[in-house]
Amino acid sequence: MRYCYISFITFCVVMDVESTIGDGSKHQEQDLEECPTLPVNHRFLEPEKAVKSITDMALWEKSEAYMEYTGFIATLNEAIKGKPLSVDCKVSSNVKKILSVLHELDNYINEFPPIEQPQRFGNIAFKDWIHKVKSNTTQLLQDALHDNLHLAIPEIKLYLEESFGNATRIDYGTGHEMSFVMFLCCLYKIGNLLPDDNVATVFLIFNKYLSIVRRLQKIYRMEPAGSHGVWSLDDYQFIPFIWGSSQLIDQPRIFPPSKFLEDDIIEKFSDEYMFLSCIKYIKEVKKGPFAEHSNQLWSISAVGSWTKINQGLIKMYKKEVLSKFPVVQHVLFGSLLPIRRFPITH
Ligand SMILES: *[C@@H]1O[C@H](CO)[C@@H](O)[C@H](O)[C@H]1NC(C)=O
Ligand SMILES: *[C@@H]1O[C@H](CO)[C@@H](O)[C@H](O)[C@H]1NC(C)=O
Repeated sequence: MRYCYISFITFCVVMDVESTIGDGSKHQEQDLEECPTLPVNHRFLEPEKAVKSITDMALWEKSEAYMEYTGFIATLNEAIKGKPLSVDCKVSSNVKKILSVLHELDNYINEFPPIEQPQRFGNIAFKDWIHKVKSNTTQLLQDALHDNLHLAIPEIKLYLEESFGNATRIDYGTGHEMSFVMFLCCLYKIGNLLPDDNVATVFLIFNKYLSIVRRLQKIYRMEPAGSHGVWSLDDYQFIPFIWGSSQLIDQPRIFPPSKFLEDDIIEKFSDEYMFLSCIKYIKEVKKGPFAEHSNQLWSISAVGSWTKINQGLIKMYKKEVLSKFPVVQHVLFGSLLPIRRFPITH
């Protein structure tokens, strides 16, 4: 049994030292042969919360999990730079299998229509959907992953299950989004996804996830987690704005960036660029002047280049999401995304 153990840390460390977005392409092209492998007797763990109080935040910010996670976001950010969603990208059979898991979860929504109840609360039919998701993820992942990787399922499936919202509160926010991105990161770390899959991972898998959570938000009227989405840009999401702004770097059609506010641009390009699909969604679900309901995005529109917006959003994500205890207290740590300190000091 041989696992390809992909690490995103080298890239991340470079990025942090120079505090700019470095050249991720070198890392992506890393030869599979050079890829270190998980030891044959690697012990997977059921992931658990580890940040229990504000003082534990320092552990998180110095952890291997933090380095891997931020390195992963930066690596995919680099891979999709300047590319529209329709770009011709390789779609491996492993990507297709993960997509069918998501299609299946999406279909389950049809089985649980919202029930009659007071409008102002999240719809409790969401609990039934989540229940079905949780009872079926093991089977779905067994169908999707190679036999060699089945031992990893108890560890990685929790990240997937936690990525659609909280069933008690019927809310959704950037913590759930983070859980899905960690699930993807784990799929790389066990070698189920490879650097060749980077573009498809964002454009097909993550984009499909986005359409599912939007459907859940609308159908079950999910509340924004936290006090009205303080830890997100549009009440719910953050990452599609990061990756979406990377797509818009060095393209002439949506430039200057303030054009993302124009209705005809949104209509024309929302199927090509995640950033515009996010703006379109906001305009669908929110009433009133954009500058009022989405003030942060409004301010961003004044920035002169997409490169600056992209770099600014990554910094903002670290500051406004990754360093906030109310978000990080729910993060799960296991053998693939460990809380142990990095670099390991002896
Ligand atoms: C899927 O979930 C449903 C509802 O909880 C359950 O009845 C069914 O047995 C599950 N299927 C599998 C394969 O676990
Ligand atoms: C969901 O919300 C409930 C109620 O606030 C909380 O006790 C629970 O820990 C949350 N679940 C997760 C997985 O964050």
